[in-house]
Amino acid sequence: MSADDSTTDPATTGDIGDLPQHVAMIMDGNGRWAKQRGLTRSEGHREGAKAVRMAVTKSRELGIRHLTLYAFSSQNWSRPKAEVDSLFSLLVEFCENEKQLMIDKGIRLNLIGDRDPLPLVARAAVKAVEAATRRNRDMVLHVAVNYGGREELVRAARRIAEDVARGVLSPADVDERAIESRLWTAGVPDPDLIIRTSGELRVSNFLLWQLAYAEMYVDECLWPDFDWPRYELALRSYTRRERRFGGVG
Ligand code: FPP
Repeated sequence: MSADDSTTDPATTGDIGDLPQHVAMIMDGNGRWAKQRGLTRSEGHREGAKAVRMAVTKSRELGIRHLTLYAFSSQNWSRPKAEVDSLFSLLVEFCENEKQLMIDKGIRLNLIGDRDPLPLVARAAVKAVEAATRRNRDMVLHVAVNYGGREELVRAARRIAEDVARGVLSPADVDERAIESRLWTAGVPDPDLIIRTSGELRVSNFLLWQLAYAEMYVDECLWPDFDWPRYELALRSYTRRERRFGGVG
């Protein structure tokens, strides 16, 4: 992971404002980035992994407590096998290459999504870093892999039904907390800011429950081009907004 501190760091100058405690990112546009350069889609994802390093490093430096990255959706299995394989290879590489830095910087890794269908090598790599970083408290990096917001809600509903059937939960007690506590993100504060690259105005089955009051920011750039100046612009846009959570402000 690049530890390039040469850019002006607003965390030290304090001039960005009240930062979000949880940022979520839809890292879109790797394929188009590659196509524009006559490269394979897998090469686009590899370049995208560099922007992942920037996002993790800068978020940690700024004191952002949670960063959630959409790395592989439940629907992404329909992509060509070579591309799917390359995405899991990148996940393994990321775990191997960044493990020490995550330990050093107090970052905990937490995979969200259904990990059972993942290749064994990917599951093992993730598990090793989750175990090595489980006591880290400064930031949590949530990586969404084989994740879908609808799949997550279906799973929560099934778990509630099971608990009702077992008699440990009464239907009258099914409230927001009952649902939230059965999500993959149980106990994690909702994202304050969701950033999507490549100019697409879609949520794409990401954190459907958790994004209820998140501020949205769409950057026109393709994910591999998402650099710190662009991330800083997104954060500055967030800090200028007035959040009302359904009230009148
Ligand atoms: C969407 O772009 C991107 C993905 C489905 C994968 C994102 C993965 C990475 C950035 C690299 C690995 C991540 C980690 C955490 C190690 P797209 O392929 O849909 O692009 P397109 O819309 O231009 O085709």
